[in-house]
Amino acid sequence: MSADVDILLEEALSQKPLRLALLRRLLAWTRPYRSTFLLSIAGTALAVTSQIFGPKLIQLGIDRYLTHITTSAAANRGIFIISAIYLGNLLLNWGVTVAQVRAVVRVGQGMMNDMRLAVFQHIQRLSLSYFDKTHQGRIISRADYDIDAMEQVLTWGANQLLASALTLTGVLFMMLRTNLRLCLAVSLVLPPLAVATYLFQKYIMQAHRQVRRQSSRLTASLAENISGVRVVQAMGREDENLENYQDLNMVLTRRAYDAARIFHTYMPSLNLVSGVGIAIVLGYGGELLQRHEITVGDLAAFILYVQMFFGPVQTMGDLYNNILSAAASAERIFQLLDTKPQVIDRPGARALAPIKGRVRFDGVSFRYETTPENRWILDEVDFLAEAGQTVALVGHTGSGKTSIISLLARFYEPQLGRILIDDQDVSQTTIASLHRQLGIVTQENFLFTGTIFENLRFGRPEASADEVREAAKAVGTDEMIGQMKDGYATKVGERGGNLSAGERQLICITRALVARPRILILDEATSAVDTKSEALIQAALEILLEDRTTFVIAHRLSTIRKASLILVLHEGRIVERGTHESLITAGGVYAGLHEEFSRHR
Ligand SMILES: Nc1ncnc2c1ncn2[C@@H]1O[C@H](COP(=O)(O)OP(=O)(O)OP(=O)(O)O)[C@@H](O)[C@H]1O
Ligand SMILES: [Mg+2]
Repeated sequence: MSADVDILLEEALSQKPLRLALLRRLLAWTRPYRSTFLLSIAGTALAVTSQIFGPKLIQLGIDRYLTHITTSAAANRGIFIISAIYLGNLLLNWGVTVAQVRAVVRVGQGMMNDMRLAVFQHIQRLSLSYFDKTHQGRIISRADYDIDAMEQVLTWGANQLLASALTLTGVLFMMLRTNLRLCLAVSLVLPPLAVATYLFQKYIMQAHRQVRRQSSRLTASLAENISGVRVVQAMGREDENLENYQDLNMVLTRRAYDAARIFHTYMPSLNLVSGVGIAIVLGYGGELLQRHEITVGDLAAFILYVQMFFGPVQTMGDLYNNILSAAASAERIFQLLDTKPQVIDRPGARALAPIKGRVRFDGVSFRYETTPENRWILDEVDFLAEAGQTVALVGHTGSGKTSIISLLARFYEPQLGRILIDDQDVSQTTIASLHRQLGIVTQENFLFTGTIFENLRFGRPEASADEVREAAKAVGTDEMIGQMKDGYATKVGERGGNLSAGERQLICITRALVARPRILILDEATSAVDTKSEALIQAALEILLEDRTTFVIAHRLSTIRKASLILVLHEGRIVERGTHESLITAGGVYAGLHEEFSRHR
């Protein structure tokens, strides 16, 4: 577990150089918000301009009027006007900033919303082979962490960067215009400032990484303890686990302390440097004043400009790192979005017409992407299931039963051979039209957060309450559901956590029936229910499946015995086929399996 956490974290903390193509692609996402985006940029420019204008007004006020204030009524009026303009400028700055921030947030949130949807939609379309080889946590961190990281930078980063760059340029311009020599004198503080900023960036970055890495470990430990709390309590591991957690926690505290120390050393240092800058202005500026090279107003404005200079320097340093991390996040999101589903509708694929349910496998050979080249998971599988027949797939664990079903549902595509439904090659039909006529109860019977009723209608949302009830009655789940707290309105916890394994399975079977599929697939569907329920389901299925092609995979013989066709699989090959009686008489693999099963009952 912790190895996974570390891999994910390294990925999340990785930085890559910024590429132009990436920027262009990111910008494309702002297209729907282009006018708001441009407005926010214009707003930033205006806000910065008005801010830089402030000290200039003060200079004017001092030089033109303040120095004459006692002697002239005109000066009094003048200073009043300047104050009014200054106030007006402040209000303008406030208004523009508020509007600009809103625009930025709107663009940023809109883009993130679009991106989250795109990622979700794409994940749903990806073929199962992608999930076979990609860690779940990794996919989730795309939709969650990576999008958040990008949001931070896109929302604020672009504007802060612009604002800082404009401020620095503007301030520099004003300082140069005021007095070149004073400017050169103040620039003495730049080398120490550059060194301090560089060092700070380097160390704070490392410190933040350490904090994140450690806090992820702590979270992972907590999560493991919550999901494994039963085992922890049953085995009396509370003290050991607490100690373990305590150790991780201590390290985190130390790392957080380190980061805070670095940060809180840098900030006062920045003040120190800007203070030195101001001291230089005062000292050297005083001399220039004596020589009448500058005015008092110039000096005052200059001090204000020096103070304005340092904020953006620090912001730009912070931003640089954040932008690099966000770029790495963006790369990973685009990589996910660029992953092509492997099973897709062929060009010219036709919708599968309403089918009768005749299924034929014709020389089908298949291996998963991760299967070694020299091995077939399914090896030249041939069979024919007539419409309405019940076909049982039997074989040891790993013999390929579920794989056959996965191919029929087109979760994967075979490397060789064809699969035909009613004589139509499924690889030439659209996936959606196939899935509409297929019902599957899998080994992992998954329920979604919501009510039982909602879950039952999952495959056919337009099914009426009566239809749902009818299906439940047929399978014998109506009574069981009736006994639950709120009947059909009972809430199902995450993944059906508040139901027993057998109840979950029964509900999944009902769910498949509500969808009224032409072909029904039950993969170990009755493994978790008791013999009584199984008999019940069996009886119901016999009625319900009369005109439906059904594939059943079960280790229990009672489910298999009545099948019209039994296919016995061994290492991916069909080694025997026939009815229960004929196979018993033949005395082969099936007869052996049968004996094994009977002994274990
Ligand atoms: N997603 C996958 N990726 C790679 N290999 C897989 C995958 N699923 C199954 N396999 C391999 O394919 C073989 C057949 O698996 P399959 O799930 O079809 O067996 P099964 O007959 O359904 O077994 P069981 O009775 O245990 O459910 C096994 O060797 C298994 O390891
Ligand atoms: Mg299986």
